[in-house]
Amino acid sequence: MTPTGIETESALVNSVITSSAWIAPSTSARGVAERFFREVSLDACALVESGEPVGLITRNKLLFSLFRRYGFELYGRKPIIAIADADPLIVYDDERIDVALDKALGRPPQDIYDEIVVTNAGGCYRGLLSVKQLIIQQSNTLANSIVQKELAHERARELEKISQVKSQFIANVTHELRSPVNAIISLAELMRISTEKGYVDQLRDRLALLMSSATNLRAIITNILDLSKIEAGKMEVICECFDVAETLREVAETTRVLLGNKPVEVTVIADPENCPVILDPIKVRQILTNLMSNAAKFTDSGSIILSMKSTPDAICIAVNDTGIGIREEDLDRLFKAFSQLEDAKTKRHEGTGLGLTITKNLADLLGGSMRVSSKYGQGSTFEVTLPLQCAEREDSCNDNREPEHSPY
Ligand SMILES: Nc1ncnc2c1ncn2[C@@H]1O[C@H](COP(=O)(O)OP(=O)(O)OP(=O)(O)O)[C@@H](O)[C@H]1O
Ligand SMILES: [Mg+2]
Repeated sequence: MTPTGIETESALVNSVITSSAWIAPSTSARGVAERFFREVSLDACALVESGEPVGLITRNKLLFSLFRRYGFELYGRKPIIAIADADPLIVYDDERIDVALDKALGRPPQDIYDEIVVTNAGGCYRGLLSVKQLIIQQSNTLANSIVQKELAHERARELEKISQVKSQFIANVTHELRSPVNAIISLAELMRISTEKGYVDQLRDRLALLMSSATNLRAIITNILDLSKIEAGKMEVICECFDVAETLREVAETTRVLLGNKPVEVTVIADPENCPVILDPIKVRQILTNLMSNAAKFTDSGSIILSMKSTPDAICIAVNDTGIGIREEDLDRLFKAFSQLEDAKTKRHEGTGLGLTITKNLADLLGGSMRVSSKYGQGSTFEVTLPLQCAEREDSCNDNREPEHSPY
């Protein structure tokens, strides 16, 4: 039986008939013995008259009867019906294997391993079942059924978990989208009032707030769209030459703006200070922005250090902060989509939980890797290594490198 689907039901005996051997009941015991000697794989024969079974003779019982109970002088003369089992266990061919097996094992001990005779519903002989075969068959069915049920439970548990995470994500996203949308609507209304009253200063202030809410909204939508693109395998890599050290400095500047009044110092350590590379500049900036915006979000005081080291084969960028840190047991689920470590109901920080997943996917897309180390309550370091392998445009990039000073 193949282990496809969930086998909870026993198959029918029809499918496990092992032999259809039969003889006429009048056949001499000698004739039957000779048949058993000739056909070494034959363990039993049904006695069949006018198509219907009237008895069963097994190899063991024939030999036992001939040599021990009746003596050798009867050997040639007796018809087999005289020493056969005239009341064998008979089951229908559409009976379930487990039911047939129950019946077989309910027989007296000396008969337990005797073959079972199978007939159709009309009582016509169909063949024989081997009890040993039935036991093997039933054990396999049971084992498959247990394995399949366990797999089904596991899958159900997984689906349940995914559905919980997705529901939580939708709740988060809805909340995150509603905040800037509400802000935009309220600000637009206030601006209408300011316009009517001719309050130009108020109008300017509110316009700035409106811009910030709209930018926030766009960032959330971009993240959602980016993740769908990545998951659909439609995110393209477009390499060109750019100064990655300059990108670091620009992202650091934006982070300072994000931090507002928080007492956090942002430092850039780029080695070398000018570092032309051939990579996808948009994706590198996105990676840096995500890591730096997290550092800014989760650091209330201290420092954020954005550092970069370059080798001929790769660049390694690290973002180190003195923020809230991450518990060791949470590190594993950090890069899983929709995972925020804070409880949805009590969380203090905004966000949809997509930033790190996108960052990790972008690093993978560029052939790179990501690592995180953290001490809860003390801070975190996120490291990204990106290989420099867009060889076809290397010449154009080398043209942009500053000339190296020769000591000669
Ligand atoms: N620098 C960090 N310090 C402490 N915890 C962090 C840091 N970066 C990420 N985390 C934890 O990992 C979670 C996932 O980060 P991720 O950037 O994916 O989502 P988010 O910042 O909550 O939302 P989004 O980036 O979509 O706006 C965060 O919610 C936070 O719990
Ligand atoms: Mg984030």
